[in-house]
Amino acid sequence: MANLSQKNKNEIQYPRDCTFSLQDWTVLSNYWYPIAESKEVTEKPLAVKLLDVHLVAYRTKTKLVVARDLCVHRGTPLSMGWVEDEEIICPYHGFRYRPDGVCTSIPAHPDAKISPRLCMTVLPVVERFGLVWTSLTGKYDNIPSFSAWDHSDFQQINCPPFDIKGSSGRQMEGFLDVAHFAWVHTETFGDRTNAIVPRYQVDHTEYGLHVEYLSSVSNYSKELQHLNPEGFEWLRVFDVYPPFSATLKVYFPNGGELWIMNAASPRSARETRLFAPIARNFDKASPVEDVHAFNLQVFIEDREMVENQKPEDLPLDLQMEAHIMADKTSVAYRKALKKLGLGDLYTS
Ligand code: FES
Ligand SMILES: [Fe+2]
Repeated sequence: MANLSQKNKNEIQYPRDCTFSLQDWTVLSNYWYPIAESKEVTEKPLAVKLLDVHLVAYRTKTKLVVARDLCVHRGTPLSMGWVEDEEIICPYHGFRYRPDGVCTSIPAHPDAKISPRLCMTVLPVVERFGLVWTSLTGKYDNIPSFSAWDHSDFQQINCPPFDIKGSSGRQMEGFLDVAHFAWVHTETFGDRTNAIVPRYQVDHTEYGLHVEYLSSVSNYSKELQHLNPEGFEWLRVFDVYPPFSATLKVYFPNGGELWIMNAASPRSARETRLFAPIARNFDKASPVEDVHAFNLQVFIEDREMVENQKPEDLPLDLQMEAHIMADKTSVAYRKALKKLGLGDLYTS
C-alpha cells in the first residue's frame, strides 16, 4: 500500500518547463528569498511560486509551513486543500499531512500502514521583516541584515508586494543604479538638471558588496524639495546580498534615516515579485499610505525600464553591454553573480 517507486520525494527536482537553465536553477536554489508577506500567510493555504517551483504556504495552530504544492498521491495542489488543527488536508482523497510532511491518514484505508516515503516536501522557513522567507535547499544564508526593523526609534512599514514581468537580476541591478535617478524618477525625487554621478567606491564584504554614494540628489519627494538644505550632501549606503537582495540607507538632513530593503523574489526567469520593507526614524506619525504611494510610484517608474530591457536576462559576460564609470556597483554586482556559479549569459 502506498508503495512509492519514485526517487527521494524530499528533494525538489529541476521543474518541467523551467525558465532557468539547469545550472542557474541549481545555483539559485541554494539561496533564501521572500515569498509572501507574513500577514498574507494564514490558515487558508496560499499558492506561491519560486524559481518555477509551485509552493504552498500556510499556518497551523502552532507552525508556519512552506511546502511543495503537490500531493504525492495524484499530484493535486495542496493549496486547494484546507488546514485542520495541525494538518493540511488534500481535497482529492483526503490524505492528511503534518507540518513535518509526514502523511498521517489515508481515509480510504484507515488501517493500512503508511509508507514513510509518502510525504509532503517541506522547505525551511523563517519570518523576518514582516516577510516569509524560504529556500529550496537552505544551503546558504543570504538574508540581509536590517537592524532598524527591530529598533524602537524606527517605524517599520511593509510596501505591498509588487509584480514585475522581468528578471530579478535586472530588477536588482536597477535598484543599485545611481545614474537613472535623474531620468526615470522624474515624478518622485529625480531631477533632469542634476544628472552628474560623482565618483564612488565599491567595497567587497563577506556577504557581498558595500557602497557609499555621496551626491546632491535629494531624496525628498517633489512637493517637499524646498526642505532640501542648500549644499546638503546626501549619503546613500548600499549593501548587496547576492543574488537578489540589497538594502539602502538614505541619510536625510537633521539625522533622519530611511532604510529600504529590495528583496527580489524570482518567481521565474521572467517574473519577479518585489518585497520592500522600509524603516524610518522621522515622520513616524505620518500616514503609511503616503509611503506606500510614493514607493509605488518609484516602483512603477523602475518597472517600465526593467520590463523592456533586452536581453531580459542580466548579461554576466561584461563584454555584452557598455559600462560607464557610474556603473561601478552594477559591474561589481554582475561579477558577484558570476562568482556564485551562474552562467555567463545568465538568466534572471
Ligand atoms: S491526490 Fe491528494 S489525496 Fe489523492
Ligand atoms: Fe529606480
